[in-house]
Amino acid sequence: MGRSSLATQDLYAESVNPQWVRLLDLLGMNVRYERCEGCELFAEDGTRYLDFLSGYCVHNTGHNHPYIVEALKQELDRSGPAMLQSHVPELAGELAQRLCALAGGGLTRAFFCSSGSEGVEAAIKFSRAATRRDGLLFCEGAFHGLTCGALSLMDNPFWSEGFGPMLAGTKAVPFNDLDALEEQLRTRKYAAFFVEPVQSEAGIRVPSPGYLGEAQQLCRRYGTLLVLDEVQTGMFRTGRFLAAHHFGVNPDIVVLAKALSGGLVPVGAVLMNEQIGDAVYSTLQRAIVHTSTFSENGLAMRAGLATLDVLEEENLGERATRLGEQLRASLNAALGQYEMFAEARGLGLLSGIEFRAPSKLAPRLSLQAFRAIHPAMFGQVLVMRLFREQKILTQMCGNNFMVLKAAPPLVADETSFNTFVEAVERVVSEMHSSTAFWTEPLLLARRAVNIG
Ligand SMILES: Cc1ncc(COP(=O)(O)O)c(C=O)c1O
Repeated sequence: MGRSSLATQDLYAESVNPQWVRLLDLLGMNVRYERCEGCELFAEDGTRYLDFLSGYCVHNTGHNHPYIVEALKQELDRSGPAMLQSHVPELAGELAQRLCALAGGGLTRAFFCSSGSEGVEAAIKFSRAATRRDGLLFCEGAFHGLTCGALSLMDNPFWSEGFGPMLAGTKAVPFNDLDALEEQLRTRKYAAFFVEPVQSEAGIRVPSPGYLGEAQQLCRRYGTLLVLDEVQTGMFRTGRFLAAHHFGVNPDIVVLAKALSGGLVPVGAVLMNEQIGDAVYSTLQRAIVHTSTFSENGLAMRAGLATLDVLEEENLGERATRLGEQLRASLNAALGQYEMFAEARGLGLLSGIEFRAPSKLAPRLSLQAFRAIHPAMFGQVLVMRLFREQKILTQMCGNNFMVLKAAPPLVADETSFNTFVEAVERVVSEMHSSTAFWTEPLLLARRAVNIG
């Protein structure tokens, strides 16, 4: 690493987040990227990495797509009104129309924001306004964001500990369990049921085919709104525009973010039906009752529109369906022989590779030792080896450290998929045959303690 980049990193460590720099250093993943294109990341030292994480489903159109970059440059060059807060932002109307047309199912209004969490916060407020109820249901293992409202819809204490009381009146039910859902809905105290159609951070959990449809019926019966968090699954990630479309479900509210940005300008959208929109913005006095300074800004709206152009013109949904099925078939074929491999599952290009404890005593004890040091240790070693030795960037699921995520940009070519499968197989083979795989975490832990 050159002197200038070291100096730049020092500034970050001093003034932004020193622990993040330490963690990346510890994992040997602190690389300075110079250029990112499609699904490739080029480091300062010339190494090429394949991105199979996509910034957690941000880069559906690939990094720095030239069409989106050009559209943003043109938007800047036209010197149009930006963040005036005193006019009708026409691009927002255009983007809302296109998103609602793609979503279908009675979703005819959009609220724009700048992150997934902000979208979830809006959905909490909107569902309360529309139902005049306070309670909120969510699923065990969910990830909805790290603001206080969104955090109140997550049951993993890791994310909320130390941050004081969360919203009252929230309740977790098991994912994919209709009886448990109905038992809560029957109380008629819930404004909304928040659910990710495919749970991402919980371990790429795909529900049984009838679950979401039945959940919708139950929600309707008991007057609760169905809110789908499609922050990761939306924007053709699973092959269809919304993952909801696989399950024939018509949600009352959908939250989108991440890939809507084209990976370049933050933008989120909350799609809802007309009644919900009218319940929030019910009178002239309430015309600006829920807004945000950066919402509807021209650059973000242009990013959203250009991203939709690319997704549709390049047929990336169809590609995600086809390549996702091939990828999982290849992974299952290549890894099936290994005891610690459980399965590769997913939808479109959102896949999870699940591992399980081995039956042999020695590796079983090693796995237990890792877990005692840190629950994420096993997964982090996998991620580290894939990165350092195979030059593949990916991550474990945030609420399930036994599931490795595979979510490449939807533009990734077939060679990248073969490279990925071979790389994962090499690491999994080492896991089963080499003691180094098991000793490395202990050294890592010692290093962490020594510099801690
Ligand atoms: C399913 C889901 N919902 C909401 C969020 C929050 O989005 P953001 O990080 O943009 O606030 C995330 C972030 O990873 C997510 O995965």
